[in-house]
Amino acid sequence: MSEILNELADFGIVPVVVIKNEEDALPLAKALMRGGLCCAEVTFRTAAAAKAIEIMTKAFPDMMVGAGTVTSTAQVDEAISSGAKFIVSPGFDAEVVDYCISKQIPVVPGVCTPTEVLMGIKRGLSLLKFFPAQQAGGCDMIKAMSAPFPGIRFMPTGGINAQNLPEYLSIGCVAACGGSWMVKSDLIEKGDFSKIEELAKEAVQLAKGVRCTN
Ligand code: 3PG
Repeated sequence: MSEILNELADFGIVPVVVIKNEEDALPLAKALMRGGLCCAEVTFRTAAAAKAIEIMTKAFPDMMVGAGTVTSTAQVDEAISSGAKFIVSPGFDAEVVDYCISKQIPVVPGVCTPTEVLMGIKRGLSLLKFFPAQQAGGCDMIKAMSAPFPGIRFMPTGGINAQNLPEYLSIGCVAACGGSWMVKSDLIEKGDFSKIEELAKEAVQLAKGVRCTN
């Protein structure tokens, strides 16, 4: 796993962010950093995504900011130009994954079947996003699907929250959990960055609780 992906595993949690207005990027990054969550996946679901990544990485060069919901090679280029340190995709698009590999940017494609895991292994990937985690079988599915692939680690995302986070993080092959529960769009839109900071802190404490006892 690349150094950057190792860092994501150290954090244990990757906030999945949807930013509609680029002006929200700086206060959001500050809230996450103050909350102890020094990483984020900024999704390419909005026109503001690339600019938001640029603002966040310029303000906090050490923050591990990546691009999410990347579904085309053009978006990979845009993400790299904005300063994204890693690429996440909801599914396994071989063209996008191969392009990221050729550009030497860490990529975490989405998988939810053993066949897709094999596609990742074929390309030398060792961290894959399990998406949509809760809806695709949750912790039981991860345990069953990971059994034949001891070298692979997963980043489950989708339906994860403060309640089920500890269960996911206690699975050995789970490197980190992605989720939007601490950065909900309504909190960003109404500018409630202190709530985001509070939820980020809570998530960090939950992750520490699991990681320190395993
Ligand atoms: C994603 O974008 O990866 C997921 O939609 C995040 O899922 P969540 O909103 O259920 O955390």
